[in-house]
Amino acid sequence: MDNTFATISAIIKNRRSIKPVMMNGKKIPDYQVRSLLELADWAPTHGLTEPWRFVVYANPADFCHEHARLYKEHTPAENFIEASYNNFYAQGDKASHAIIAIMKRGDLPKIPVKEEVEAVACSIQNILLGATALNIASFWSTGGAITKPAMKEFLNLGEHDQVAGVIYLGYADEHPAGSRKVPMEEKVKWL
Ligand SMILES: Cc1cc2nc3c(=O)[nH]c(=O)nc-3n(C[C@H](O)[C@H](O)[C@H](O)COP(=O)(O)O)c2cc1C
Repeated sequence: MDNTFATISAIIKNRRSIKPVMMNGKKIPDYQVRSLLELADWAPTHGLTEPWRFVVYANPADFCHEHARLYKEHTPAENFIEASYNNFYAQGDKASHAIIAIMKRGDLPKIPVKEEVEAVACSIQNILLGATALNIASFWSTGGAITKPAMKEFLNLGEHDQVAGVIYLGYADEHPAGSRKVPMEEKVKWL
């Protein structure tokens, strides 16, 4: 038990967001990505609605080019940033896989949308932690057009579904240090 706790603690604390630009282009075998998705399926889910859905791009540049196009087409000129466009376009170049994580709204009205979103966040965290255990770098992104209506349309989502983000997976040669700004004492009230 102690060993198990030590292992999972190390994985949780070592998980870092590693931007796709830091990845080195090496490919993850598809079977490992499948085993990460299997972990996602074991997230907690109120009412067993299992609201997580995933679209996997084994060639992430395909997704990134579409994302950049959507960002350009749907961003008002005064907000459009050319450097961001270029960044979105190139984001898949050194990543191995991109996984679009979706909240599919179920038909159990007693489960609030918030809880469906939370379940999907848990499923994503399962992927990130599993990736860390496999020395796979990961990055959860919601930038650009990812959470915009145009992306929902591109993915053929239902009206009440949501895009939770894109998870980029790959390998990186460096592992950034983590940081937290707010001390634990301010986050926990123990009575
Ligand atoms: C819902 C969600 C969305 C995020 N979207 C972005 C993003 O669009 N761009 C970004 O740079 N980081 C994004 N991040 C990652 C955070 O920047 C990152 O978690 C934070 O810097 C803490 O670093 P750590 O993950 O290494 O602990 C996102 C994180 C979460 C939970």
